[in-house]
Amino acid sequence: MNDDRPQYHFLPPANWMNDPNGVIQWKGHYHLFYQYNPVGPFWGTPHWGHAVSPDLVRWTHLPLALMPTPGGPDADGCWSGCAVDNDGRPTLMYTGAVMVDTDGQLGYRQTQCLATSTDDLLTWQKYSGNPVIPMSPPGLEVLGFRDPCLWQEDGVWYCIIGSGIRGEGPTVLLYRSENLVQWEYLKPLFSRDAHSIDPLWTGLMWECPQFFCLGDTSVLIVGVADAEAPRFYTAYALGSYADHTFIPDGIARFDLGADFYAPIAMRDERGRIILWGWSPEARGAGPGGTAWRDNPIQRAAGWAGVLTLPRILTLRPDGLLGVAPAPELHALRGTHHRLTNIDLTPDSSHLLEVVRGDCLEIIATVELGTATSCGLKVRCSPQDEEHTLILYDHTAGHVCIDRERSSFDPTVVRGIDGGALVLGPEEPLALHVFLDRSIVEVYVNGRACLTERIYPSRPDSLGIDLVAHGGRATVLSVDIWDVSGP
Ligand code: FRU
Repeated sequence: MNDDRPQYHFLPPANWMNDPNGVIQWKGHYHLFYQYNPVGPFWGTPHWGHAVSPDLVRWTHLPLALMPTPGGPDADGCWSGCAVDNDGRPTLMYTGAVMVDTDGQLGYRQTQCLATSTDDLLTWQKYSGNPVIPMSPPGLEVLGFRDPCLWQEDGVWYCIIGSGIRGEGPTVLLYRSENLVQWEYLKPLFSRDAHSIDPLWTGLMWECPQFFCLGDTSVLIVGVADAEAPRFYTAYALGSYADHTFIPDGIARFDLGADFYAPIAMRDERGRIILWGWSPEARGAGPGGTAWRDNPIQRAAGWAGVLTLPRILTLRPDGLLGVAPAPELHALRGTHHRLTNIDLTPDSSHLLEVVRGDCLEIIATVELGTATSCGLKVRCSPQDEEHTLILYDHTAGHVCIDRERSSFDPTVVRGIDGGALVLGPEEPLALHVFLDRSIVEVYVNGRACLTERIYPSRPDSLGIDLVAHGGRATVLSVDIWDVSGP
């Protein structure tokens, strides 16, 4: 079972992890916190786990940073939040959760809390006046009120909080403070009507908002999840921001795969925006589909949840959001294989002889030729009974991961997930794939990414195949590296 445990992606030594939290570079080192249940590999009362890295690749696990205080405003969970440098003092702002019974309905009271450190982020002291935002704005009936994200403008702190207003729709609420302790509610930074579906479904409530700029463009990221969501996903809006008003140009899906959620972004000392997301397990669910939070397979494995690789976000000259794996990941590359000029003919197999594996980095550049679609299969069994297909459909301008045949395990999530990606007339397809046991991350032409979890059943499902349909295509080059843990 632990053959599914990723080798070079970040995850705690054991137990449950969900959202990444509070990433910050401090004295040159990257600190990463995350939602963690120390009791077992299932969702429980969230604590903050903590790890540190000199290079985004090698992580050292550190003691828990935050744990619930009995009787306190976070008695039932230290939920997601962020980390900032408040004039030399490392500070966390997070959501405290307390379970409450309102007319027989169990729910969580959500308030915003602070903690600070005086020993370079190792131990944290909660602010004695917590919560610093004790309630949602008066007059608004909110469905949730959580996951603060902070930034500073001209010495003043601003905070957005994920929310949804009953009868109105999902929203991000904007606050202001001089000192991180006293907060004034300003207005929604961005909201949509409940159940909006154009251009994509954005639900009733948003979680884990992130707000930052790439040059003159502002980026807002939100997690879309509520009781009606079939699976949760991440949306982003590019736009302009002035006078505390965000004017989005549109809204689109970030990460076109099914298993990416609750990302957090940071600006590092080099000025790069680096983003990590949580990739939950995608198996063990029975009818009803919610068993990803707790199921016998996860309990037997002893762990659940993994973070994606660090991604660098940029604004491209064409105005699109660029996304690429951090170049630091090159340090993980082992044995290199390179093949060039492979002609792909329709519907025949091009199973690579030279390399097999479940921990690989693959970069393939494909001239589309007359093919209507082409791509890669990974984790193929020798006779192709099992495989996971990464396919670009040239005709439709669509990229997807198809895991209909990724496993014989009846409890795994199947289906085909993807989204629009239109290549230029002469633009080759550039696939960059990271395979790490049960997680697949795909970056396509520097402007799309997909994350999915797969659990092949056969130990010999280790092959790589190249495919073209409807015509011929040419793989100009394919570079493959064996990747081992740091
Ligand atoms: C997102 C989320 C956050 C919340 C945290 C609790 O996955 O639901 O909104 O703060 O997880 O673990």
